[in-house]
Amino acid sequence: MGIAGQEGPRVAGGEGTRFVLGDGRRVIDAMSTPAPLGHRHPRVVEAVSRALHRSPTLDEGWSTPEREAAAEALLGTALAGEDWVGAVRFGLTGSEVNDLALSLCQCVTGRRPLVTRERAYHGMVGLAREMTVQPQWHGGLSSRSGNGVRPVPPAAEVRTLPFPRSDFGQGVRMSREEARRALAGSEPRLQGAAAVIVDYTQGGCYATPAYQDELALLAAEAEVLWIADEVITGLGKGGRWFGFQRGESRPDLITLGKPMGGGAVPAAAVVVSKRVLEMIGDSSWQNYSALRSTDMGAAATRAVIEVIDEEGLVERSDRLHDVIEAAMRSLAAAHPSVERIDGRGLHWWIELHGGDWRTWQGDSAEKPIASVVAERALEAGVMIATSGERTAVLFTLAMVISDEDLERVFQALDHGLQAADEHLAVHSEARV
Ligand SMILES: Cc1ncc(COP(=O)(O)O)c(C=O)c1O
Repeated sequence: MGIAGQEGPRVAGGEGTRFVLGDGRRVIDAMSTPAPLGHRHPRVVEAVSRALHRSPTLDEGWSTPEREAAAEALLGTALAGEDWVGAVRFGLTGSEVNDLALSLCQCVTGRRPLVTRERAYHGMVGLAREMTVQPQWHGGLSSRSGNGVRPVPPAAEVRTLPFPRSDFGQGVRMSREEARRALAGSEPRLQGAAAVIVDYTQGGCYATPAYQDELALLAAEAEVLWIADEVITGLGKGGRWFGFQRGESRPDLITLGKPMGGGAVPAAAVVVSKRVLEMIGDSSWQNYSALRSTDMGAAATRAVIEVIDEEGLVERSDRLHDVIEAAMRSLAAAHPSVERIDGRGLHWWIELHGGDWRTWQGDSAEKPIASVVAERALEAGVMIATSGERTAVLFTLAMVISDEDLERVFQALDHGLQAADEHLAVHSEARV
């Protein structure tokens, strides 16, 4: 019996920054967003095991010492100095907490429309799936024999904002004037909306503080709540504890997920501002799930935040940005197949020539060139991701990656991109 929808190599285990493949090979994990300290970090394993041995099975409506300690680590360490923060509620996945945050915004504003930016991915549950506007992630069925797609019909009114395009992490230098131009004409899309949700990696769209600040201004004018989706960037991969901290503006809600579980268990959270707490008032939030908040998740969150803090890994991620940016500039210069590279800190996106993401729905019988590049990189000992894209690959590194492994990742990318160069050459000849 198979597992529906599974493909790719069999992974038998994970140790530190390595995957152990079914054939015994140990390859560098350059694709796991939920493993900021690698796999089975001793501090995380110890914390989760202790919780497993001591904790009650208790639904999310109750407080426990583990949950209190995780809230303290998140609010007191990761979000230290962010005085506007009001409270946290724990969950399991990024999709789930995005649905929670979006529905809360609809509830407190009494409005239905929701806004995101082009090419966004916010998850696969409820309103999060509605806000995932990357065409290939429609939550429906895509035929691999080229017989088209059967997407799930939309249930919500979703509006999209333009994409702030940048290269090599230069979005951080975008001026306010450029941001205004990028968002020109967006006011009507915000009018009457409940929330705008924006993340800091998806679709190859990284930190652009000026865009964030300009959008925050437009959202405030239209009385739209702003959710910072930090499911990938929360806890430091982008060189700040949170992506929004590069800008001057502050969100109304933050959603967090993947790294919170320390590469061991599911854990996620919605953080709400004091202002949103006031909007909730003395009401009870009638949204509940029996297994949503676990002590094992809370223990992992506390441990992962402590290690990141003690070892200065946020600052390290920021420093490594420059090393990676230099390597990416060299790769782009060496490989004609590269159309654009962007990234921030330890998360990077390489866009290849040869396809338009707007028309890609994952319904082709032909193997996408991105998958071929990923296979070649694996030959060179590094697992990178495609996120189901046809012409984009991405890589993300554990915050504890060694300098030698970083070098091996660059070499594997170089090896993988040769396949894209060959593909481009064949297709260009065919067009001549
Ligand atoms: C920005 C962003 N938000 C939300 C999600 C959904 O998180 P999860 O896969 O844990 O449901 C993802 C997943 O990749 C993401 O990249």
